[in-house]
Amino acid sequence: MTATLIDGKAFAALIREKVATHVARIKEAQGVTPGLAVVLVGDDPASEVYVRSKGKQTVEAGMNSFEHKLPVDTTQEALLELIETLNADPSVHGILVQLPLPSHLDESLVINAIDPAKDVDGFHISNVGLLATGQKSMVPCTPLGCVMMLRDQLGDLSGKDAVVIGRSNIVGKPMAQLLLRESCTVTIAHSRTKDLPEVVKRADIVVAAVGRANFVQGDWIKPGATVIDVGINRIPAPERGEGKSRLVGDVDFAAAKEVAGAITPVPGGVGPMTIACLLANTLTACCRAHG
Ligand code: GUN
Repeated sequence: MTATLIDGKAFAALIREKVATHVARIKEAQGVTPGLAVVLVGDDPASEVYVRSKGKQTVEAGMNSFEHKLPVDTTQEALLELIETLNADPSVHGILVQLPLPSHLDESLVINAIDPAKDVDGFHISNVGLLATGQKSMVPCTPLGCVMMLRDQLGDLSGKDAVVIGRSNIVGKPMAQLLLRESCTVTIAHSRTKDLPEVVKRADIVVAAVGRANFVQGDWIKPGATVIDVGINRIPAPERGEGKSRLVGDVDFAAAKEVAGAITPVPGGVGPMTIACLLANTLTACCRAHG
């Protein structure tokens, strides 16, 4: 059997289109343009690529993009001061501080300095608590995109056995909360989980977010399961050959697609959905701010 490919690229394009339509409407009706501020500290090349892409897609959706690139030796005080300025700026509806931050900066302190209403990443402790208690919050973009793809593929998720591999604050934990909200039976697996292949084998839904290339094996997957691969791992070009580096997920795609019912590819699966959901969150923040 060969799995259905879940086309995140096409789905994300659809979301961006809907966001752009709503942005045009809110501009027309209220004279307000949603604005997203992205803060990048340092010059990590992967982060620079993401930030550029976020800025481009924000503008394409008709929103304002404010980019703040700060030097790698930016002090905690200077960064907090910028966040305070953005919190107070009525033209900024969403604030995103690109992670990871340089090691001298306190990530939690910085994230929790963002006005929760502008926290389009959904990482602020208030939003984490609101999500965990089933209240209206900002929802982290990557897990939100994953649930949207699952709902689109499977319809009602209630009662399904879901395994999330990875317990990060950015993906694993909020992913588990969202699946719980969908009435799935949720297991969070991680590096200390015993008999991981057996745990994965029980799942109707597998979300892999471990950050290790081709970690989840094809024979761990239950036949017909839906597999969402959050991993983006760059495999360097072979030293001798003329081949280019390539991106692979956390799942051994070639083997898993022979067993799964549906699977997201890497690239072109979860990745494009994350930015589309960021735009949607920015629009939501703007709508909430303007009643
Ligand atoms: N770095 C990697 N993914 C993310 C994300 O979703 N948000 C932020 N702020 N930084 C990231």
